[in-house]
Amino acid sequence: MNAEESLELEQLMFVEEPMDGDGPRVHPAWLPPEAFRSLGARRILLHGEGRLVGTVLNEVSRACARYGGRMWHSPSWDVDVDVVFALRDADELPNPSVEAARAAAEAALVEWGDGGALGDEGFVLARAGDVTAVLADAPAGLLYGLFHVVRLCAAAFDPTRPPERHRPALRRRMLNHWDNVAVHPVMGQVERGYAGGSIFWRDGRPRGDLARVREYGRLLAACGVNAISVNNVNVSRTEALLLTDRLGDVAEIADALRPYGIRVHLSVSFAAPVLLGGLPTADPLDESVRVWWAAVTWRVYDRIPDFGGFVVKADSEGQPGPFAYGHDHADGANVLAAALAPYGGVVHWRAFVYNHHQDWRDRSTDRARAAYDHFAPLDGRFRTNVVVQVKFGPVDFQPREPVSPVLAAMPATRLAVELQVTQEYTGQQRHVCHLGPCWSEVLRFAPWGPGGRTIADVVTGEAAAGGGMVAVANVGDDLFWTGHPLAQANLYTFGRLAWDPRQDPTAILDEWITLTFPPSATADAELVRRTLHEIMDDSWRTYERYTAPLGVGFMVNPGNHYGPGVDGYEYTRWGTYHFADRDGVGVDRSRASGTGFAGQYPPYWAQVYESPETCPDELLLFFHHVPYGHVLHSGSTVIQHIYDTHFAGVEEVTAMRRRWQTLNGMIDPSVYERVAERLEEQVRCATEWRDQINTYFFRKSGVPDERGRTIY
Ligand code: GCU
Repeated sequence: MNAEESLELEQLMFVEEPMDGDGPRVHPAWLPPEAFRSLGARRILLHGEGRLVGTVLNEVSRACARYGGRMWHSPSWDVDVDVVFALRDADELPNPSVEAARAAAEAALVEWGDGGALGDEGFVLARAGDVTAVLADAPAGLLYGLFHVVRLCAAAFDPTRPPERHRPALRRRMLNHWDNVAVHPVMGQVERGYAGGSIFWRDGRPRGDLARVREYGRLLAACGVNAISVNNVNVSRTEALLLTDRLGDVAEIADALRPYGIRVHLSVSFAAPVLLGGLPTADPLDESVRVWWAAVTWRVYDRIPDFGGFVVKADSEGQPGPFAYGHDHADGANVLAAALAPYGGVVHWRAFVYNHHQDWRDRSTDRARAAYDHFAPLDGRFRTNVVVQVKFGPVDFQPREPVSPVLAAMPATRLAVELQVTQEYTGQQRHVCHLGPCWSEVLRFAPWGPGGRTIADVVTGEAAAGGGMVAVANVGDDLFWTGHPLAQANLYTFGRLAWDPRQDPTAILDEWITLTFPPSATADAELVRRTLHEIMDDSWRTYERYTAPLGVGFMVNPGNHYGPGVDGYEYTRWGTYHFADRDGVGVDRSRASGTGFAGQYPPYWAQVYESPETCPDELLLFFHHVPYGHVLHSGSTVIQHIYDTHFAGVEEVTAMRRRWQTLNGMIDPSVYERVAERLEEQVRCATEWRDQINTYFFRKSGVPDERGRTIY
């Protein structure tokens, strides 16, 4: 490709104008202008009123201005159109073909039964004659319908396309930003953030770039996210003030995100009545505390009428909570929930509660047990507007953990599953690690046994009201939003899975590829698609291969959690041990001889996990301490498996780098360069992991590699 062509390509990939004043241009992620080509070249009719209809109007007119289409908003005369977006309760139009398309969509709804309900966010798409109709009951449905048409490209106009109805499976699809307002001396501006600074805050103040916040809202709406919390769950003094004195800063963010149907939530300190209110106590059963929360919450809703609610990390890693007053987490959560209830707000109360001052010599305490031990007995005691937010695994976002048993233990509680889009333990956005397959496995897991209800059912609320999905965000003020451009796919995938947890993650990735690398803006669309799939589809398993083996977890450098540190946490207070010795490795969590954690599962899995003979290989060391010579179901011994997977993992990463190089000149050069640079680091780091893990276990066990490869 010559210089001119490459410049042309760059112009296609980036928003042409800086988004805000003279600031740097920002990568458009999955909404490059090109993604709107198919829609923007058509004749579009929009019918209905409302704030979010206004957003659709803006999107459509921008697309038409760029690609030569035309747009009408509720015209009182007959026009020929290709597509109509309409609210169902909007008046009839003097336009026979449009009305025919509307009628087709209505007829399809009748066929589906259940009163044709679309809800606040759903939509129906149907064809009649040459017109595609998208109907919704509420403006948000039209916005989601618009982004659906964008995703479909030309397929939205295929005359043979059958009618389709879309409604989000989950009501709340939420991101938690671990962004600090004031720079934290250890954690920085964004705790576990790998994409630069915060898009909301800088050095103790709002960052002041609301255009970027709006752009972020647009990206989130296009993948289905509808709620975010804007500050870290670890609430320090400055951040605590967002609830009161600095509420205006939160209101500005809410204003910027509202046009995209996104509600703002706040992480609050349980000690706020003391910290901010000057009360002598934050005791949840104290009347003055109840009154304080009620008054503060009233002021929040007065300023932000569609405020979403509070997120709380209590009695966890030093955060204050109800234990200080001799009360449990239901008492703690309920006082906040009572304050929010009159306005329809919710409390997301995190179940991440454990003793972080454990003595490593004490083999009876097991961090994995903690969330269940604290929360399962409280089932049925939480108010209905409390969502107990449970990390997907019992420990801490490791690349491989069993699914948390808490998610099967609280049938009378609204439960949300918490995922980590930010790659704290999965390569920190320096490594390619596409997490869709991991999350999908979690969501498809059937805790009561194969064929039974799944985690997706629990969070959707098929039995009781579900609590939805929440994820820790991975976005910062980086040019590519996520540091590693390919990490954008994790954010996109989270939103799409939260919309429909049963979707195939590879199909979602395919959508992301098509949107982000639009065929008309790449030199060889098929090569780009194939190569990205080859690099990303299995990248989570590749990451798993070269890091801690067989579900044992951690083995990372303490503090920053990046790179190998096999014994980094072995003699610390954090409760994350692997217990490797000369004979074997792993944590005995069986009921018979270990910590009893396996017994926290319903009978089917309790039995499977109880014995090393039945425990799935990938979780063996999470549940059992076994000799290095233990033979896995795969036929390999544990020690040989460690060697083989670590050699294989590095080979796979080297192959990723080689594959990426074939895209040089095919895509936006700045994306190419950024990814290429990160792949160098991934190869370096994976090699370090391989050599440290292999060497460590070789030295412990004395067992040589069957294949005689180099171990140090
Ligand atoms: C992890 C992470 C912390 C974070 C915590 C949480 O332990 O390392 O930075 O605060 O999770 O989920 O609250």
